[in-house]
Amino acid sequence: MNFLAPETLNPVARPVAKPALLSIIVPTFNEQDNIAELVGRLDAVLSGLSWEVVFVDDDSTDGTVKALRELSQTDARVRFLHRINRRGLSSAVVEGILSTASQYIAVMDADLQHDEKLLRDMLERLRITNCDVVVGSRYLQDGGVEEWDESRQAISRLATKIAQRVLKTELSDPMSGFFMMRRDAFDRSVRRLSAMGYKILLDILASARPPLSVSEVPYVFRNRLHGESKLDSAVAWEYLMLLLDKTIGRAVPVRFVMFTAVGGLGVVVHMLTLATLNQMFAVPFMQSQAIATVMAMTMNFFANNMLTYRDKRLKGGWQILGGLLSFYAVCSIGAISNVGIAAFMFDQHYSWWLAGIAGILLGAVWNYAVSSIFTWRK
Ligand code: GDD
Ligand code: MN
Repeated sequence: MNFLAPETLNPVARPVAKPALLSIIVPTFNEQDNIAELVGRLDAVLSGLSWEVVFVDDDSTDGTVKALRELSQTDARVRFLHRINRRGLSSAVVEGILSTASQYIAVMDADLQHDEKLLRDMLERLRITNCDVVVGSRYLQDGGVEEWDESRQAISRLATKIAQRVLKTELSDPMSGFFMMRRDAFDRSVRRLSAMGYKILLDILASARPPLSVSEVPYVFRNRLHGESKLDSAVAWEYLMLLLDKTIGRAVPVRFVMFTAVGGLGVVVHMLTLATLNQMFAVPFMQSQAIATVMAMTMNFFANNMLTYRDKRLKGGWQILGGLLSFYAVCSIGAISNVGIAAFMFDQHYSWWLAGIAGILLGAVWNYAVSSIFTWRK
């Protein structure tokens, strides 16, 4: 028995819709109450245009996915990607864009803080001028933020200054999460993107070759409609990682820099523990040194888990225990090779400090490379 109508079996009989002119990419994490409202507003401001909206959800724990499914069932302009075991605004945006075919791409938040009424104007600018990207700016005349406390404003301004300096851009709001661009502007940057953290616009601008021409339009950053911000203390750290990657990242992997910085902190922890045990409590040197080593390795493991490998963070008792043990094992072999190479070089009559540094460097590279395989697996 055939339950399917013949026309659904024959591809020629079904007209195929053209891709939209404009795709709006919206990253979501726990935004269930904002989605229908956003789509309603897009529908109102974009009437007469061919558009679609692509939500990219990182497995929200509220009803966002359900809301997305329901909307997509009734409105063909609504699509979504559902990512499991992933987090990250930037990577969500990148993958959302990669799932589209339209000529123009907008990126905006789900929480209605970005003013959808700008979209038409942004699109017009892209179509009649030759600029590649139009950015919604809070810091142009007529732009602003509705309700932010002094400290958040100050932090935002500082981060903006840093971005302008480091990435040598004259944009008033390079941290904006609200912008529209031509597809080829994205294509010119996509293979160089860091895709870490929050600041996808900054990433795109810093990655594109040749550089993109940008124009800005002012808007007022509204208050969130429902739900809460996902900005947390890690955002500053991720921002730092992004800036490092965009500057020195070509020469040295940022993760290695972080890993080494954490290692440096480990040396401090080691020496403090050693001094306390041996000098203050008269614990014999060998025992003190052994305890200090374990302390430093443990601290390094947790610091790397929180910071260097934040995106692959091990969570829950068993994962952490397994990670910690494998990290001890990796570092022990690292220590043996450190001492081995140093002793060998010293034997070959290299100066003591060169031999020492060579040992440390080999140990660091070993620990970094091997722990990235065994401890923080992909
Ligand atoms: N898929 C996914 N994964 N989405 C996320 C994640 C994530 O890990 N984290 C946040 N989002 C979504 C939120 O659901 C929201 O739609 C959007 O990204 C912005 O998150 P908020 O938590 O509301 O950020 P904000 O309001 O503090 O900052 C935003 O606006 C600034 C000004 O334009 C961001 O867009 C900033 O990048 C931007 O500078
Ligand atoms: Mn927001």
